[in-house]
Amino acid sequence: MSNAVSPAGPSDPRKALRAEAIHFILNGSARAETGVSPTMTVLDWLREQARLTGTKEGCAEGDCGACTVALRRGGRWLAVNSCLLTMGQIDGAELLTVEGLTPPGAALHPIQQALVETDGTQCGFCTPGFAMAMFAFADGGEAADDATIHEALAGNLCRCTGYRPIVEACKRIAGIENPPLTQPSPPKGGEGFSLLPPRPLGGEGRGEGEVFHTPHTLADLIALRAQHPDAMLLAGGTDLGLRFSKGREHPAIVISTAQVAELQRIASDGTALTIGGAVTYTDALPHIDAAFPSFGALVRRIGSRQIRNLGTLGGNLGTASPIGDTMPCLLALDASVRLASMRGVRDVLLADYFTGYRQTVLAADEVIESIRLPLPRDSEGFVVYKVSKRFDQDISAVLAAFHLRLDGGKVASLRAAYGGMAGVPKRAGATEAALIGRPFAAEALHDLDGLLATDFRPLDDMRASAAYRLRVAANLLRRLQLESSGMPLHLEAL
Ligand SMILES: Cc1cc2nc3c(=O)[nH]c(=O)nc-3n(C[C@H](O)[C@H](O)[C@H](O)COP(=O)(O)OP(=O)(O)OC[C@H]3O[C@@H](n4cnc5c(N)ncnc54)[C@H](O)[C@@H]3O)c2cc1C
Ligand code: FES
Ligand code: FES
Repeated sequence: MSNAVSPAGPSDPRKALRAEAIHFILNGSARAETGVSPTMTVLDWLREQARLTGTKEGCAEGDCGACTVALRRGGRWLAVNSCLLTMGQIDGAELLTVEGLTPPGAALHPIQQALVETDGTQCGFCTPGFAMAMFAFADGGEAADDATIHEALAGNLCRCTGYRPIVEACKRIAGIENPPLTQPSPPKGGEGFSLLPPRPLGGEGRGEGEVFHTPHTLADLIALRAQHPDAMLLAGGTDLGLRFSKGREHPAIVISTAQVAELQRIASDGTALTIGGAVTYTDALPHIDAAFPSFGALVRRIGSRQIRNLGTLGGNLGTASPIGDTMPCLLALDASVRLASMRGVRDVLLADYFTGYRQTVLAADEVIESIRLPLPRDSEGFVVYKVSKRFDQDISAVLAAFHLRLDGGKVASLRAAYGGMAGVPKRAGATEAALIGRPFAAEALHDLDGLLATDFRPLDDMRASAAYRLRVAANLLRRLQLESSGMPLHLEAL
């Protein structure tokens, strides 16, 4: 997708005055910011313009968590990476930074106190980010078990303290009532401020050379898309955010999908689960967990909580990355995407969606409205295996998703889809054909390496060699055979 990008420089559009202000609540106080580029990152704005320098910049690419702040739009507080988030995205939301945890001169917030008491900080660079991730964890009222805490903190790196005392601090604050913020938030829709101010086309911010559209309906979204086929279409920004934070790009026109009501829907009719194109991983997770537990376990390994709180399934499909985690799952499930434009809607099977490396059938005026995932029947199994160098917060070297039906010990049907094995996420057609109709036993898998080598010619890159990828791909299918034969492997689902 091409984008109309205004280069930063002497006429840096970040300095352009916006006709309309960006409204949000910062640490309990209502703000209406003019003179801010809607594609400036929240981290840059906090540090450079609000002079709130408690929020740190480590990697500026979503990996370290030093920039973590809490964001709320009506529901619970969510931890997000402010280095990937743009000012346009926080319009109508509440933002809490480490400075907002306690009023100046007041006693430490219980989270900060717990970090002090457990010796959970040394150089302190990572500490504001940890404190905000812990704040969101406490706000969610979650269990204080190790697995939940490790998951909640997986997006935060610490170079010097070691994680044990930080985990201990997190255990101490689990379930605490977060004390009131610096100033009480104005009520939703309160006088002079509305959390979702009504705007033309559901919200439009204009700056000199920059426009950030926030439509609220699908009709407005596709009308804007037809009008601006070269505009940047932005969902959570966990992929595109790097172009703002590292690339310093300022696209002339951005169209956000995040507030479009139809793209936020999740529905199940007993035969399929349908997830709107702008539903975040966090919101989709309980539904995916219930329908496809192994897929749910995979979603918990996509990035970190900070990434999943903004990132979407629609955005993953939008990237069409050969190492995107959800796409092999959708291929193996025989899922389809609904593409919408002013010309109408069309449903495209995932198998027909990819046309080449990071290329799809999506036309310039189309958006992904929803993704339809057929539910497996009782006799069918669906399993996902992700192989990456680290368990958390890492991109896959190889990802395999298998949809299997056995009949009398024979393979009645098999869809074996892989990521990381080709320029596109792809099914192993030759391997599937060779196995269908045969007993699903170790002997049937002898030729596996040769079969997979006809299906895939994987790349050598920094994540893995081609030979490693082929070996892993074969071993994951062997693992499926062992697990489906009931052999106890003492391994996690992934
Ligand atoms: C630290 C970090 C860790 C990550 N870990 C993983 C991981 O483990 N696994 C993984 O798969 N990915 C990972 N990612 C990549 C990213 O988080 C995912 O691809 C995510 O799903 C992108 O969703 P988004 O909503 O943020 O997309 P965006 O960045 O907003 O958009 C991505 C692309 O999709 C397009 N798009 C978005 N919505 C639509 C729509 N409705 N219709 C048409 N096009 C659309 C956009 O135009 C853009 O081209 C990681 C990223 C970071 C920064
Ligand atoms: S600065 Fe590292 S995640 Fe944002
Ligand atoms: S205390 Fe130094 S990075 Fe965590």
